[in-house]
Amino acid sequence: MSQFETVDEVVRFDSVDEVVTALGEQGYIADTRLATTVFLVTRLEKPLLIEGPAGVGKTELAKALAAVSGRRLLRLQCYEGQDETKALYEWDYGKQLLYTQILREKIGQVVADAPDLHEAVERIGAQESVFFSERFLAPRPLLEAIRAPEPVVLLIDEVDRADEALEAVLLETLAEYQVSVPEVGTFTTKQPPYVILTSNNTRDLSAALKRRCLHLFLDYPSADRELEIVRSKNTGLPEALAAQLVDIVRGLRELELRKSPSISETIDWARTLAVLGVEELNATILSDTASVVVKYDKDVRKAIGALPRLVDPNATIPEHGHGHGHGHGHDGGHSHDEPAHRAVDDTEDEPSEVDGRAIRAAKDQAGRFGHTYGSNPLGVGLGEKAAKAPKVPAERGSRSFGAGLGRKRAL
Ligand SMILES: Nc1ncnc2c1ncn2[C@@H]1O[C@H](COP(=O)(O)OP(=O)(O)O)[C@@H](O)[C@H]1O
Ligand SMILES: [Mg+2]
Repeated sequence: MSQFETVDEVVRFDSVDEVVTALGEQGYIADTRLATTVFLVTRLEKPLLIEGPAGVGKTELAKALAAVSGRRLLRLQCYEGQDETKALYEWDYGKQLLYTQILREKIGQVVADAPDLHEAVERIGAQESVFFSERFLAPRPLLEAIRAPEPVVLLIDEVDRADEALEAVLLETLAEYQVSVPEVGTFTTKQPPYVILTSNNTRDLSAALKRRCLHLFLDYPSADRELEIVRSKNTGLPEALAAQLVDIVRGLRELELRKSPSISETIDWARTLAVLGVEELNATILSDTASVVVKYDKDVRKAIGALPRLVDPNATIPEHGHGHGHGHGHDGGHSHDEPAHRAVDDTEDEPSEVDGRAIRAAKDQAGRFGHTYGSNPLGVGLGEKAAKAPKVPAERGSRSFGAGLGRKRAL
């Protein structure tokens, strides 16, 4: 880290290339588009919103940024039903109770000569500020990031899982970098944190939030970058096989799977094959180990059906009854936006599964974002422009939000 200029112990990058190098030293392989965005985060004091399918390195980027900038990472993991106290602050009830017990005698003295209950309550009330003071404040990530004496990286992970009420609180906080605690006062940041929000796109985020943030769409990496990532993890799989494996995984991502294999799954597969001492990739060994990359029974069957073709594009494959025409080569357009078809397809095997996780998983489709975002070469937007895509077909929207999630869009 010493090679980068430090100002008041804050690492400052002079160029996008420096960012690429620094991230690389932390084991994070970035292309220039991604590094440009990171560079801007360090210069513009704007939060960064990263959207994209699961497992493409969104969370990892926040960790890597913390490492390269020498900052502490504070993480707010979002989930459904989370309320703002978990994001901002809580009162440390246990500590308050402990103190009142230890101070029982002293408290007793305060109310000892009170003539009646009313007066006793009044006297205790007058002491309230003692127990609702900074000493008993339990800061949660947002307040902690703002109160921190040193600059930090704040990761607000999977913000699409949080309810819109919490999203509004985040927005307010990120607009001013201050948190007000009525009993104590207002905390204002000394040095704005680098803020990274991630979203797996299970619902649209508010336009206001997008407007406030730099925006980066992170899709599955190019074959070259994925190979570089695999290489950097020292999986033990020979280079030529790793390259072939990356292409095969990319082929699997074009199938209409419920959960497309992510980068971590490519890495796991490479490790698995290396441990098995595989010297040549063939359909048999890949089928035997396919469960490393595809985790749903139906996906496994689809993957196994497609593997011979992916290993050897010239192989002729007999029709396998269950497929949806997947034996017919790479048809990029085929996997995009077929909500009606998918709705039927998804429910036929798992009729009882309507929980949020399944809905989210169903949305982690390769290619769900491809075309719309591909047209923005830098993928960096400062507002509305980036916020427009992707369009979710009405049927899909009503399906996910109608299935008991109980969320409303308030645009
Ligand atoms: N650019 C990258 N360089 C190195 N490893 C990466 C990169 N992108 C993803 N990975 C690997 O993929 C894994 C999953 O990434 P993660 O950040 O958890 O995904 P998500 O986008 O779901 O937050 C990481 O633990 C890391 O091993
Ligand atoms: Mg993540």
